[in-house]
Amino acid sequence: MSDHAPKPPKEPGEDPVRPHVFDGIQEYDKKLPNWWLITFYGAIIFAVVYWMSDQHFSSSTAASRLGDDLAVIDAAKLSSGSAQLDDAALWKMSRNPVVVKQGEDIFMTTCASCHGKNMEGGIGTKLSDEEWIHGGNPLALVGVVTNGVQAKGMPTWGPVLGAKKTSAVVAYVLSKHPAPAGVE
Ligand code: HEC
Repeated sequence: MSDHAPKPPKEPGEDPVRPHVFDGIQEYDKKLPNWWLITFYGAIIFAVVYWMSDQHFSSSTAASRLGDDLAVIDAAKLSSGSAQLDDAALWKMSRNPVVVKQGEDIFMTTCASCHGKNMEGGIGTKLSDEEWIHGGNPLALVGVVTNGVQAKGMPTWGPVLGAKKTSAVVAYVLSKHPAPAGVE
């Protein structure tokens, strides 16, 4: 038992020795140095403050940043041309914020002069209602925008915009319309 009792320092000024003995080895009861403790507690405080600022005070959470990144990836996939352009793909594009923003920019510079900034119509027809002269399904819209309606004053946009921008601007028009069930 006397082996396990705390041993006083052998020399004055030396650290005390811990009471336990393992295989004849004893430990000094050394205090951690202050620089180490400051770094350690500092790291804990930093982690808490950083976490709070990231979770509670930042406008973009990790989830919303992930959503933004996924939208960019989806947009690239949808307009890469590798996916087949059909009604479903166009409806999907119309719910993708990146594609819709591209389409909006094109609409404002290329289409708004005739169809109105809010698609309310003007020289061109209203595009925000559900009445369509040439059919309202997505591929029909791509067809009209690509080929135009020469006799009625709707220009031929296919050669000007190309396929990607044409589908983006159609996606923007569709974004103002309720999507069919199953499209997110
Ligand atoms: C110079 C004026 C003008 C511009 C610019 C213009 N349009 Fe048109 N657009 C028209 C007119 C006029 C019509 C009506 C055609 C008709 O009566 O058949 C029309 C028809 C349409 C239709 C068919 C509407 C329906 O009811 O079927 C769509 C879709 C359309 N435009 C989209 C666009 C898009 C997208 C752009 C931009 C890329 C654009 N237009 C630019 C004049 C324009």
